[in-house]
Amino acid sequence: MNNQEIILDVKNLNTSFISDRKQVDIVKSVSFQVKRGTTLSVVGESGCGKSVTMNSIMRFLGSNARVSADNIQYNALRDGEITEYHLETYKKSNGPEMRALRGPDMSMVFQDPMSSLNPVYKVGDQVAEGLIQHTGMGKKEAREKVLELFRKLGIPDPESRIDCYPHQFSGGMKQRVVIAIAMICNPELIICDEPTTALDVTIQAQIMELLKDLQVNEGKSIVLITHNMGLVAEMADEVCVMYMGRVVEFGSLEDVFDHTSHPYTKALLRSVPVLGLADGQILETIPGITPNPADIKGGCDFADRCPDCTERCRQGVIPAFEIAKGHRVRCLKYDSFPEVNG
Ligand SMILES: Nc1ncnc2c1ncn2[C@@H]1O[C@H](COP(=O)(O)OP(=O)(O)OP(=O)(O)O)[C@@H](O)[C@H]1O
Ligand SMILES: [Mg+2]
Repeated sequence: MNNQEIILDVKNLNTSFISDRKQVDIVKSVSFQVKRGTTLSVVGESGCGKSVTMNSIMRFLGSNARVSADNIQYNALRDGEITEYHLETYKKSNGPEMRALRGPDMSMVFQDPMSSLNPVYKVGDQVAEGLIQHTGMGKKEAREKVLELFRKLGIPDPESRIDCYPHQFSGGMKQRVVIAIAMICNPELIICDEPTTALDVTIQAQIMELLKDLQVNEGKSIVLITHNMGLVAEMADEVCVMYMGRVVEFGSLEDVFDHTSHPYTKALLRSVPVLGLADGQILETIPGITPNPADIKGGCDFADRCPDCTERCRQGVIPAFEIAKGHRVRCLKYDSFPEVNG
């Protein structure tokens, strides 16, 4: 696949945190690609490193983080031309290179709308700020652009809403404002970190519809982090399953849902509540607990919880195997297939 087709190419990303002089490895050899104009869903249980992975890419982490990667390549497509950016070479999150890309090229929607909005500024000014900064546009023109975007995002009565403060908005409306901040400079890649967990289900459905619309009708590329496998089924073209800081399975929605291969993905999908469980059928949970990232032994991180674990699984680093084109699984059950970058 060429740079036109791939918008983000992450190879061998590692992130550690230093605390109390100890280094804890959180993201380990993570590799994935986002195809232009598609949605990639990143799933995995709480604490597996989904947010740290995205924050490493966006350079949002603090000074106790150590991030390294062979490649974090963003391929910008402007007027039919590709420009490559190597984000792994940018040292500072607030440095000029990253600041220039954040907003007009790639942006992030965070989980909690309240912590992303400043309570003392009018919502309209918060949305306009990025546009004024990046384009030098005048206030009046920027206000028109914000109104246009509010209308598109389904914020009712935008002319009066634009001058409200965040506390005057409901949770769903606040999240729309956060999405507006991410969208105002018209980025091609939007990373959404659980954008709807703080919202009730009807609002969640509306926000998801909005994101789907942006992807389908405007060709945006979306990375959607979520716990909700139902949303993944509705939204994703490709799925990246993480466990303990590693990608354990990656493939198309069909690969991961219909040809589920990693024992962890199987367990994750079995533990999804479905309507109409048969009489006597109970929802499964994944046995055991997630290990603490600080005391990891060698071998497969899922070994202690895996029904198929053998002695071999407890040694060394488990590679990923490509079991079908684009479908890779980090499990020794598949070691007859070619080994690939994880
Ligand atoms: N700044 C930090 N310093 C030290 N450890 C951190 C820091 N940020 C995150 N971690 C640790 O990294 C691990 C992964 O966290 P992360 O937030 O990426 O999980 P997640 O997969 O996004 O979980 P959730 O689904 O709950 O959002 C956790 O063990 C967390 O405690
Ligand atoms: Mg998270």
